[in-house]
Amino acid sequence: MFEPEKFIEDSVGHLRKNIDGNAIIGCSGGVDSTVAAVIVSRAIGDRLLAIYVDTGLMRKGENAVVDSMLTELKVNHKIIDASDEFFDALKGVTDPEKKRKIIGEKFIRVFEREAKAWGSKYLVQGTIAPDWIESGGGIRDTIKSHHNVGGLPEIMNLQLVEPLRDLYKDEVRKVGRELKIRFSERQPFPGPALAIRIMGEVTREAAELCREANVIVEEELQAAAEKGEIAIPWQYFAVLLSVRSVGVQGDIRAYGRTIAIRAVESVDGMTANYVRIPHDVLERMSIRITNTLKDRVNRVVYDVTNKPPATIEWE
Ligand code: XMP
Repeated sequence: MFEPEKFIEDSVGHLRKNIDGNAIIGCSGGVDSTVAAVIVSRAIGDRLLAIYVDTGLMRKGENAVVDSMLTELKVNHKIIDASDEFFDALKGVTDPEKKRKIIGEKFIRVFEREAKAWGSKYLVQGTIAPDWIESGGGIRDTIKSHHNVGGLPEIMNLQLVEPLRDLYKDEVRKVGRELKIRFSERQPFPGPALAIRIMGEVTREAAELCREANVIVEEELQAAAEKGEIAIPWQYFAVLLSVRSVGVQGDIRAYGRTIAIRAVESVDGMTANYVRIPHDVLERMSIRITNTLKDRVNRVVYDVTNKPPATIEWE
């Protein structure tokens, strides 16, 4: 049986012994990197600098949320706006694996710069077991290159520290609860962020559409859960498709993009079942999305695929 208190005690002891000097950690605001940051900061205190990189692909309001959470958890941290760098690097790229590799590389280059300034040779990451299992290597097939594993560049000037490497998501949450991190129940959010929920080229405009649709999906599902219409799913979000379709808005022909809604139940992200969202809730989301993103999005569809054969994210 997994014992979170023992895991924390062993990890803190091990990290304290093995990290000589300063370290940095990339913090995405997700459960994994937050838990990793708190454990390492317990081990080495303010010698750890947590870096939250605003890639321009984060959820709405995320910078402020992460800032206040890390402050509350007393983790020494810094926020960096690197959005121009990320959008420039992603210009014209549509292949999912290329996107992941570019993002992985960009993150590392930002971290290398910051590590140099902080005098750190260590990069802590919140990598968990499914990340490296799905990234392949050896006899494993590559399903997708998780940005913090297969997305890493070959040459990198930092030593990796991955305290959660052997844990699954449900175990990370148990550790988070033990550490009193109120974000422990937060739904997972992938490191490459909205880039893997934007089919086709990732531009600022596309990110804006995906972000706005996403906040509507989150708010409507949370409101439905409060009314008792549905239990809050394990993960739920919007995907911006590259396909355009014909519609009519007012009396005028529209030719806009499509949003797909995804909501799944899972334990550890390795397999998942789509959630049977009531049609009323789906309709509320659809109407709000097409009203809010008028002239740009004129169709909303619901993804009814399990994992396997699909994955949770679309790329
Ligand atoms: P998939 O799409 O592989 O997702 O079924 C399984 C879970 O992992 C999350 N995910 C990621 N998390 N870096 C992360 O930190 C990544 O590159 C990444 N790709 C997928 C996904 O959101 C889901 O919870």
